Amino acid sequence: NNLYLGIDLGGTKMLAALIDEQGRIVAKIQEPTFADRGADDVIRRLIVISDALIADESARAGAGSITIRGIGVAVAGVLEPDQGIISLATNLGWHNVQLGPILEKWFHCPVHILNDANAAAFGEWMAGEKAGIQDMIYITVSTGIGAGIISGGRLIQGTTHSAAEFGHITIDRSGPLCACGNRGCVEMYTAGHSIARRAWVAIQAGEPEAAAIAALNGVEPERVTAEHVAVAAKAGNDFAIRLLADAGEALGCGIVTFAHLLNPALIVIGGSVSQSGALLLDPMLAAIRRYGISKVVGSITFASSALGGTAGVIGAALWAREHLALKQTL
Ligand code: BGC
Ligand code: NA
Ligand code: ZN
Repeated sequence: NNLYLGIDLGGTKMLAALIDEQGRIVAKIQEPTFADRGADDVIRRLIVISDALIADESARAGAGSITIRGIGVAVAGVLEPDQGIISLATNLGWHNVQLGPILEKWFHCPVHILNDANAAAFGEWMAGEKAGIQDMIYITVSTGIGAGIISGGRLIQGTTHSAAEFGHITIDRSGPLCACGNRGCVEMYTAGHSIARRAWVAIQAGEPEAAAIAALNGVEPERVTAEHVAVAAKAGNDFAIRLLADAGEALGCGIVTFAHLLNPALIVIGGSVSQSGALLLDPMLAAIRRYGISKVVGSITFASSALGGTAGVIGAALWAREHLALKQTL
């Protein structure tokens, strides 16, 4: 039985999954990334969970009955895919980490590294409900903000496979400085880490409704996350509602630029923060209608991700399947 190992290495979680030739998940395992423990530690744990996954599946299916044909790794950052290097992953705090060669040596099969959102776009396109559409954009609003582009029926990777760094387009050039070096990036308003940071800033400034978010969730004020903000907003907390609305509007402004550039038929939105639902997405849609050229944005269908948190592992594995012939095992 031929299988592929798909890995999604994110700022908060890492997910490893065995995927069959049809893009179906056979087994999966998830763990917190704990990026602050450093690249060596994260990669070591990634190998441990992947080995366990493969061992369990071999035991279940019978010894020698499965073959791992290739590995696809979706990483939240800018990469050097040919060398298997992670060049800059701001939400992991990594620079120039040699992931691909380490995994190839360990697993003895070809490893393909690609951007996490590009992988998820490929997964949604190949295996999601809207599979096969010619022009679509996938956007993930998670710890960071990323995107992937399917244009004219193929994944647009760009010359260094860094196409669709949507989170780092500027919507306010006097906005806050981002870890990428740019200012006023969409990610500084709408990403999970930014919603949390903006809540914390307001708590420190003595905003009582902001402090109420921590109390409502039963956490220390400095531990407030985007998820806590969403819970508070749904419970009617005014500050949380305004924060999500502003985050949604910022996201909508960014999407207008994206839509004007690419004229997509479909925009699929995924990622944990998008689970905040209408409180984020309605202001997003309103901003798109307000600022977009109606002829261009009017023809977009919006959908939530069909594959959810597994789009990245499925896309990465299918990418490895597509490119099998191009790479020989070390
Ligand atoms: C990174 C992207 C990534 C996105 C989502 C951003 O901060 O720059 O490469 O796709 O986060 O993880
Ligand atoms: Na991308
Ligand atoms: Zn940035």
